[in-house]
Amino acid sequence: MIFVTGGAGFIGSNFVLNWLAQHQEPVLNYDKLTYAGNLGNLVSLQDDARHLFVQGDICDQTQVLALLQTHRPRAIVHFAAESHVDRSIHGPEAFIQTNIQGTFSLLQAARQFLAQQDAEFQQAFRFLHVSTDEVYGTLGPDDAPFSETTAYAPNSPYSASKAASDHLVRSYHHTFGLPTLTTNCSNNYGPYHFPEKLIPLMIANALAGKALPIYGDGQQIRDWLYVTDHCRAIERVLQAGRPGETYNVGGWNEMTNLQVVHTLCDLLDRLQPRADGASYRQQITRVADRPGHDRRYAIDARKIERELGWKPQETFASGIEKTVQWYLQNQAWVRDVQSGDYMKWIDRNYKGREA
Ligand code: NAD
Ligand code: TYD
Repeated sequence: MIFVTGGAGFIGSNFVLNWLAQHQEPVLNYDKLTYAGNLGNLVSLQDDARHLFVQGDICDQTQVLALLQTHRPRAIVHFAAESHVDRSIHGPEAFIQTNIQGTFSLLQAARQFLAQQDAEFQQAFRFLHVSTDEVYGTLGPDDAPFSETTAYAPNSPYSASKAASDHLVRSYHHTFGLPTLTTNCSNNYGPYHFPEKLIPLMIANALAGKALPIYGDGQQIRDWLYVTDHCRAIERVLQAGRPGETYNVGGWNEMTNLQVVHTLCDLLDRLQPRADGASYRQQITRVADRPGHDRRYAIDARKIERELGWKPQETFASGIEKTVQWYLQNQAWVRDVQSGDYMKWIDRNYKGREA
């Protein structure tokens, strides 16, 4: 089996669902179920014996080691993290704890577990660490996209904590011979994306008749990657990546935030027009910028294409239409995650921010 951390979050749950749709190999899904974890993403697996869910914290090295010893997975795919830049500005502690301390605990448990196995098992084992392009910092308009050799220059507590975790993973390969793989991907979008991030927040707010808050001038650029393409990339790296290597994963889809929000409004105008016939674009509002806001991210994904034959299958046009359709068809899922603590976060992040 494979051991997945954070498999109840956005990318992790897409990965688990895709994995079990294609493979018979079981998944042990280990997740703390923070505000971002949602077992509702995995209801279709509730009677599936190949999916074993355990609620737990990656900082709990004893529990993780016991699970590894009991189930003897051939790989760990590590998604679990605090992942939202804005939350890392309001409360960085959880990012240090989970992203740095938690990754360290997981590496220690993996190392201890592996030391007890025979050479054949050790050779086949993989520790795949899922990271972000944000560790490379920000690009100017004419800079080349981030490659695997770009120097790390993280600018937010989130990206700094992910950078630290990447360095720990690297060191466990070089020092202890742990067969690690690291992927650094760009902004994902698609089904089950928590509606505090740009794309699902804008869809939810548009449909609710609320303001669509653009930070600053809206000219910041992100390289959007459809989540299923990302899951395929992770599978491919797990299958054929070289231990100790890192692979950048991107969508070749650079867009400004304003372009993204305009695209969403135009799609909604077509698929679910406002009752008054006006465009959703009318709801766009400028708000105060995010402190330390990175201007541009872009990924050079040529290494993974050259070495492993992976490239994205979705264009932004095809992926974003699927995404909007999914949100329109899954309004109950959105309402469900919006109950609970969600509104407290919205208040905290947006109150007093009007430009
Ligand atoms: P997410 O916030 O949606 O999900 C994170 C999951 O991890 C949740 O299910 C949460 O309950 C779980 N978790 C948090 N702390 C934990 C802990 N201490 N122990 C166990 N489980 C814990 O995140 P996501 O968007 O799915 O991102 C997954 C990974 O991909 C993260 O490592 C993130 O840094 C990376 N990443 C995400 C993006 C993106 O666009 N979403 C882009 C690049 C990289
Ligand atoms: P986000 O989804 O938080 O991802 P990240 O910060 O990891 O790139 O934000 C994507 C972009 O959208 C980022 O430039 C910030 C911007 N943004 C807004 O303009 N308004 C919003 O309400 C949010 C949540 C994000």
